[in-house]
Amino acid sequence: MASVQYHGEPSLQLKDSDLEPRDKWIELGRGAFSVVYKTFCNLHNVDVAVKEIKRGNERHEIQKLVTLSPHNHVVKIKAVLEMSGGKTGIVMEFCDYGLQSLRDKLGRNFIPWPRCLLFMQHIMSGLQFLHRNNITHRDLKPENVMVTNSFTCKIADVGLAKAYHSKSNSSSNTQVFCPSGTPFYISPERWKRPTAVGTQTDDIYSCGILFYKMITNADLFYMERMAQDESFFSMLKMYVVDEKYRPETSELDKGTTLAPPIVKAVISTCWDAKPENRKTFDYWTSLLRQEIAKTYTDEVIREADEELRQLVRGSFDDNRFY
Ligand SMILES: Nc1ncnc2c1ncn2[C@@H]1O[C@H](COP(=O)(O)OP(=O)(O)O)[C@@H](O)[C@H]1O
Ligand SMILES: [Mg+2]
Repeated sequence: MASVQYHGEPSLQLKDSDLEPRDKWIELGRGAFSVVYKTFCNLHNVDVAVKEIKRGNERHEIQKLVTLSPHNHVVKIKAVLEMSGGKTGIVMEFCDYGLQSLRDKLGRNFIPWPRCLLFMQHIMSGLQFLHRNNITHRDLKPENVMVTNSFTCKIADVGLAKAYHSKSNSSSNTQVFCPSGTPFYISPERWKRPTAVGTQTDDIYSCGILFYKMITNADLFYMERMAQDESFFSMLKMYVVDEKYRPETSELDKGTTLAPPIVKAVISTCWDAKPENRKTFDYWTSLLRQEIAKTYTDEVIREADEELRQLVRGSFDDNRFY
């Protein structure tokens, strides 16, 4: 790292020497525009994740996030670093797992329902907070939800989707114009008007698909393994726009116990073709909170978590879910 310039809260000011030397950083994951590393922050005595972004035009969006008050269900950005080679480094709180990698480890097993409902509530609560602060995510999917080892979900990759909009995978010479975002999670109205910027109701739609994926891990629209060529985009657009092709909610009942009715209600309302029918995250978070309080005791939740720990134990190399 050449120079480090601070842009966050004074209490979180970071210097070069506050992080481990660059050659000790461990790569955690790669996205289309970034590489994420784990390193140690000597100043706060905690592990942090640093997202190194190849392009440099996200500053405005990042600034907004840095000044946002912290929320338990949104990955906290601690500082923004200017790194060598014109790259930007976003220093974040470290989270143990991505929701999709956790789901993959479960195989055919389902997340026990009490914890599943809590995951839904966490995710919607993080999004409620973002929406109240006029931030639209625009790229919701399980890969962009992190999970701590105490099973708290946090929304990641916030605010960058908008900056990436101009670099969508659309191309003027393809017939079907794919809006920015991840194809399976894009709303019907965005498929119909791909150049318009995604709004809060797009996030609510994506959340419905995200929950379905989190619960079943089924291939979305039976198309996840297909090559994303022109015919893929036109077929997917047709499926998404016509509500009768939504994934089968009967898949939600394939765990050891049937899905609680609220799960189906949340999912089918969120992915309603009409944005105005989807309800807001304010509505959903309070409904979920009430439902969880009414249905599950602390003891039942502890048992569900123990079951989930057993299911993933041994799946991760270092067994962090102890
Ligand atoms: N705060 C974090 N803690 C731990 N790992 C993270 C964190 N943020 C991201 N990652 C890892 O890096 C991957 C890519 O991060 P993400 O922010 O989604 O970047 P991209 O914009 O490239 O998709 C994630 O899927 C996850 O594996
Ligand atoms: Mg991502």
